[in-house]
Amino acid sequence: ARVLLVSSEAVPLVKTGGLADVITALAVSLRKCNIDASILMPGYAAAIVNAANAATEPLTPIALLRPLPGGPARLLQGTMPGTDVPVLLLDTERFSQRRANPYIDQSGQEFCDNAICFADLAHAAVAICAGETSLPAPHVVHANDWHAGLIPFLLKTAGLHHIGSMLTIHNLAFQGNYSFDLAAQLGLANLPGDSMASLEYWGKISYLKAGIQHADCVTTVSETYAAEILTPRFGYGMEGVLNARRHVLRAIPNGIDSDVWDPQNDPLTTSSFEIGKMRGKTLCKCDLQSMFGLLPVDPFAPVVGIGSRMSHQKMADVVLEALPAILNRHERMQLVVLGCGERSYEEGFLDLARRYPGRVGVHIGYDERRAHALHAGSDMLLHPSRFEPFGLTPLYAMRYGTIPIASRVGGLTDTIVDAGMHGAAVAGASGVLFDGEHAQDMEAAVERAFDLHRDRATWQTMQRNAMETNFDWPTSAAAYIDAYKNIAAGEAKAAF
Ligand code: ADP
Ligand code: GLC
Repeated sequence: ARVLLVSSEAVPLVKTGGLADVITALAVSLRKCNIDASILMPGYAAAIVNAANAATEPLTPIALLRPLPGGPARLLQGTMPGTDVPVLLLDTERFSQRRANPYIDQSGQEFCDNAICFADLAHAAVAICAGETSLPAPHVVHANDWHAGLIPFLLKTAGLHHIGSMLTIHNLAFQGNYSFDLAAQLGLANLPGDSMASLEYWGKISYLKAGIQHADCVTTVSETYAAEILTPRFGYGMEGVLNARRHVLRAIPNGIDSDVWDPQNDPLTTSSFEIGKMRGKTLCKCDLQSMFGLLPVDPFAPVVGIGSRMSHQKMADVVLEALPAILNRHERMQLVVLGCGERSYEEGFLDLARRYPGRVGVHIGYDERRAHALHAGSDMLLHPSRFEPFGLTPLYAMRYGTIPIASRVGGLTDTIVDAGMHGAAVAGASGVLFDGEHAQDMEAAVERAFDLHRDRATWQTMQRNAMETNFDWPTSAAAYIDAYKNIAAGEAKAAF
């Protein structure tokens, strides 16, 4: 069976968040199950360069597509570096001009032609489905997030009912909502009025709503998030539409790549360790302290790590408010911060490092090696979120016995078992979960974690539980295959 995964990002070509990890890992796992999975993604400058550099064979132009809303376009075919997954890069002039961040320009503003670029991506997917290229049409198209949201809608309006469509919501906060005035420019003109009405969200065309309304199956990435998005607090205005589509909504939890995040065999850290043999973690901690300029390099100083996008979602504002009090209360505590995002938050963290020299180390930027060092070497990971569809980061940390202090929302609720109060760690406890979005809520959670940390036996049990937590890809891939089979047309079902 053939499945075309459509995504705006995929490792190692382009990544701004967890979506990129998930797409490639899913494709690899599907192929291990004999599903012919390939990935269609934008041919951003960086993606083309990375694909070309890593490949033994050059990227091959395989099709000149019909003119898309943004102009002429071609498909380049290659293999996702480090995998056997075929990748199709949509090469358009607009995508090729995006060099650093795929979504925002140098001043931090959204690119003004995002609507056109991602309409191009959807139209290109539909051209493949319609057999307009030399590629065989897929049995199922799996669209991810708003970037690919128009696909289920366009498949229907093109009459391609025999191709199953799935939309996975990785983040409902991003919706791709644009003015109806753009309809003609986006290749959405001359469609029946009632079908256009199905895209309408507060007077705008919504790419995400197009996907939710028209996909044969809508999934999201954890059980708890699947329930949360039906409520006004987490639905971002889509709760009504989602409730109406409840019968096709399904949760398929993500997995993590336990080969990449493996304390026993991690080429990006200096010492290995495992449950029962944790000496290597102490060495990783000392490396981390040196890497971030912390003083003294002391294996007994509690090290708290933060590693995530610096955004409102990840409560960067609240973290910055809470940290001074936490640092003042715990004089030996050291803090390591790795991340990038909104300028004002980046400034805030840099300022904190200036105010606490030797105690707070900050690296602004995207850095795989530092991320591994942080997860391996920290004692605790501070990972608050206002909402969290899944949350890969804490699971990476947990693999290395780093205890997460996280918000009780979304996937975090499903992957982390809260330890309860000091001294009374519950069975299976692997972290500290807290409610609330205020600095004092976070401070109280950190206090609780420090109390648990003082009790050596409790802490070791929690580390063991964290390291044993298992969310693997074969399980997720099996659930996706089951869902694909469900939506594949008639005889195509047998292929899954
Ligand atoms: P989200 O997708 O909302 O950002 P996830 O935790 O699911 O949250 O995924 C984030 C991914 O991005 C993880 O793979 C994490 O390790 C990575 N990441 C985020 N910021 C950085 C950074 N500055 N350097 C390296 N990796 C990062
Ligand atoms: C999104 C979510 C994150 C999730 C990731 C992969 O970026 O914010 O929680 O883990 O997608 O599904």
